[in-house]
Amino acid sequence: MVTPQQIRSKYLSFFEKQQHAIIPSAPMVPENDPTTLFTGSGMQPMITYLLGEPHPKGKRIADSQKCFRSQDIEEVGDNRHTTFFEMLGNWSLGDYFKKEQLRWFFTFLTDEVGLAPERLFVTVFRGSPDLNIPQDDESVAIWKELFSEKGITATVGEHPEQDGMSGTDRIFFYNEKKNWWSRAGVPGNMPVGEPGGPDSEMFYDFGAELQLHEHSPWKDEPCHVNCDCGRFLEIGNSVFMQYQKQADGSFAELPQKNVDFGGGLERIAAAANGDGDVFKTSLFTSIIEKLEEISGKKYSESEETTRSFRVIADHMRAAVLLASDGVFPSNKEQGYFARRLVRRSIRYGKMIGIERSFLAELVPIIAEMYQDAYPSVAEQQEKIAQGLAQEEQKFAKSIEKGLREIEQIKASTTIQKSSKKPFLTVDAAFRLYETFGFPVELSVEIAKEKGLDLVPAENFLEDFEKRRKNHADQSRTASAGKFKGGLQDQSEETVKFHTATHLLHAALRKILGTHVQQKGSNITAERLRFDFSHPAAVTPSEVEQVLVQVNEWIAQDLPVTRQVMEKQKALQSGAIAFFIEKYPDEVSVYTIGKDAEKDWISKEFCGGPHVEHTAQIGKLKFKKEEAVSAGVRRIYLQFAE
Ligand code: ALA
Repeated sequence: MVTPQQIRSKYLSFFEKQQHAIIPSAPMVPENDPTTLFTGSGMQPMITYLLGEPHPKGKRIADSQKCFRSQDIEEVGDNRHTTFFEMLGNWSLGDYFKKEQLRWFFTFLTDEVGLAPERLFVTVFRGSPDLNIPQDDESVAIWKELFSEKGITATVGEHPEQDGMSGTDRIFFYNEKKNWWSRAGVPGNMPVGEPGGPDSEMFYDFGAELQLHEHSPWKDEPCHVNCDCGRFLEIGNSVFMQYQKQADGSFAELPQKNVDFGGGLERIAAAANGDGDVFKTSLFTSIIEKLEEISGKKYSESEETTRSFRVIADHMRAAVLLASDGVFPSNKEQGYFARRLVRRSIRYGKMIGIERSFLAELVPIIAEMYQDAYPSVAEQQEKIAQGLAQEEQKFAKSIEKGLREIEQIKASTTIQKSSKKPFLTVDAAFRLYETFGFPVELSVEIAKEKGLDLVPAENFLEDFEKRRKNHADQSRTASAGKFKGGLQDQSEETVKFHTATHLLHAALRKILGTHVQQKGSNITAERLRFDFSHPAAVTPSEVEQVLVQVNEWIAQDLPVTRQVMEKQKALQSGAIAFFIEKYPDEVSVYTIGKDAEKDWISKEFCGGPHVEHTAQIGKLKFKKEEAVSAGVRRIYLQFAE
């Protein structure tokens, strides 16, 4: 049987044979994208090339990209969700299209990985009259031919969600909820300028004989590839990225037809393993064996132990790989998630009876697993082990204190007549969070174990989140916008620089031309960094003009105003939407100028925060200007004194 390591290297060499340039994985912390904390798919670092910038390595690119999806932290525990995963990816940047893509992927799975073609099922886009995008008959014809070459008759299931799957049906139509891909999801959620397109997904069938569906919550519904009962696993997605969202909501063809393919290595390995549990692949087994040794418990002992082992194995793998990209546990930005991973691991460790420190022991195992693909893990393993062990010690102290606190809460609430049982309020959970760094989930779990009711019983987590946000807004240290706005923190300096990026953007567009578009920004207390599209180096005299303009606007002490408005209205009013953001229907717009309606110099979609008037920024000076990639420049500014 092929190992995950072999699958990765076979994939890369297979696509190298098809004239693809193999590039290394980008770091999981995006370099020029302040709007997202982590790289969550292989295409994120490729976005500018999908939009038409020439890639220095040509039109055919492949890689294995390290990905982290923080939104899946809570999902981990079932047979297939992981926060960290590797996405095998290949891209056609205006080169090959459906015929080549589907054949290559199918050939790779069947001939290289050795998956039985009868276990493969595919989906294609049904088309949408509303979007004016046709049904993908071209992919249907290609799939029919590919299966027929393997001696398999593949017919089309028109309405799998209602009819289930029957006979020789192997190709299924779904609408844009399932067979459309963009970073923002379905077409309706895409911001203007965002690229996307219909896709064709590949599923592996672990077998009807498992009768998973019959024993699942979905037992009264027809089973189909997308039904989530656990029988089928999606193992790859070929996105035909050929459209771009327009200001009026319609879709226009991109200048080039692209392919964006992504397939989860962990999942392909599970298919090769013939077992739908990704944690039984060798990307996890060595971690789990070590945990069995430390805990004296077995992975398969009970549903609960299985879940705990999965959570720890996933979280520690993610924490180690994140640390190798420079993300260590902290209370800020990416570090906040690293902290959650570590703290949850410790918590789940306790649930399988681990009472001592153990995190550092897992690091060499994970480092060895990635020796070939990501040698930087092994190179830094001591530092990583140290960083994680430090967090472990910190948390151990907090837990002791927190547990004592919960005991006290229990004692003090038991005697209150209004309640039959002792209880934990949102305020108390917030105190535990603030004082001891207890993730709210942890407080909830301990409360339940100790027989405390939650007050309120419903929406406790939502209420907690509201409480947390309110507090953060009040103290202006960690508003929710922080995670979206790409600011390192919200000290006065960074807020000043943030407003300065808007002025800089406006000045660049005024002096160099409106082709200038923000491509990213990064702010520290010392300087601002701003990336933008421009075909040539910015000359010293242009830099001078831009700087003079920015400082003039600062000196004019223009008011900065925030308005919340409908997205379409905002666009009509001339606000610039930095394309990467995923805007909701209501957007926040920041305007700089004497009159927000008639006399302004900058208007941008933005979550803030900003200074109230520009003189608060103070005079700025130029630091440096350089190229980032073809057609993208980077400029640094700092405070003049
Ligand atoms: N970008 C596509 C995905 O993440 C391939 O599924």
